[in-house]
Amino acid sequence: MAEEAQNNGGENAVVAAHSHGGGEGAGTAVISSDAVQNPGLPPHRKRVTDLDPKREKRAERTVYTLFYISIAGSLGAVLAYMFFPIESGELLAIRLHTMFVGLGMALALLAIGIGAVHWGKAIMADHESIDYRHPVPSDEPTREGAAEVFKLADEESGFSRRSLVRNSLIGALIAFPLPGITLLRSLAPQDRDAVQLLKHTMWDKGVRLARDPSGVPIKASEVTIGSAFHVIPETLNHEDFHKLSLDERGGSDNLLDAKAKAIVLLMRLDQEELKELPEREGWSYDGIVAYSKVCTHVGCPVALYEQHTHHLLCPCHQSQFDVSEHAKVVFGPAKRPLPQLPITVDDQGYLVAQSDFHEPVGPSFWERLK
Ligand code: FES
Repeated sequence: MAEEAQNNGGENAVVAAHSHGGGEGAGTAVISSDAVQNPGLPPHRKRVTDLDPKREKRAERTVYTLFYISIAGSLGAVLAYMFFPIESGELLAIRLHTMFVGLGMALALLAIGIGAVHWGKAIMADHESIDYRHPVPSDEPTREGAAEVFKLADEESGFSRRSLVRNSLIGALIAFPLPGITLLRSLAPQDRDAVQLLKHTMWDKGVRLARDPSGVPIKASEVTIGSAFHVIPETLNHEDFHKLSLDERGGSDNLLDAKAKAIVLLMRLDQEELKELPEREGWSYDGIVAYSKVCTHVGCPVALYEQHTHHLLCPCHQSQFDVSEHAKVVFGPAKRPLPQLPITVDDQGYLVAQSDFHEPVGPSFWERLK
């Protein structure tokens, strides 16, 4: 015999299975209805742009105006690149250049993003729909259905119909990469030979080695074993630089370019640990050696010196150069040793260059230009 009792407003039912003896013991069960009810979808509320054609038109105007603003931002960045050049190397010029190019690109990206979101929220079709999962690959009717969906999406988004919105979006997407492409121009050596540009620096016979950034010349007696100095040519300062000829400036028009090529690291090792190449005999002075600080991988500054191993480490991609063995590569992606600057001392004991570098400094792409 079974007995049902309504409980708590009828949601749960108690089913008691009585034993043949008539007692209510074994077999009692509680059956609960599903605790989570499907809430369903709330009633659909139409947007103002669905109800009022004028508001819809206004939203459309807003969207294509934003896309046009994006185009203006992209073109503005290109114009900023042209009208705020950085060739002088002055800090103010560099600040203005980066600020206006950055503002143009930011405006272009922001406007395109806001425009796309506004298009989706205010103009595209607004209704709830349910998609069912289907096995893969789809059968022919499904593919036809997908094509229908695309067609429907095209109709509902107005992509084909709203030609102003569509064309302005396409224009904005085409214009946006332009500033990036324009910026690549600064990487090109323009009308000069890249090999000569990288090979010729401010170093020359008799140019003193000076501390970076103070420009104070360095005496050989100040360089103790284990120490490392960041070094620039003594003439690389704002007062003297523009008085030099282009040749004395290492072919560079501005101070930063000249510094980027001429920067050097100076270290002193125990002479017994120094293994010099026969063709470079006399390039060091009393265990003091000077190497270009520009990494031969992609040009980062090789700034970390480990005194015990005599290794120089480039922090960008971990190339390591052994100073005791003509800065040969011992680890990492660099393919060529750091170029060595031949040095000696003048009659006052200051360290001076014997000549310029004997090979181009920096990344090795020039090897492919030979
Ligand atoms: S730039 Fe030095 S390792 Fe890549």
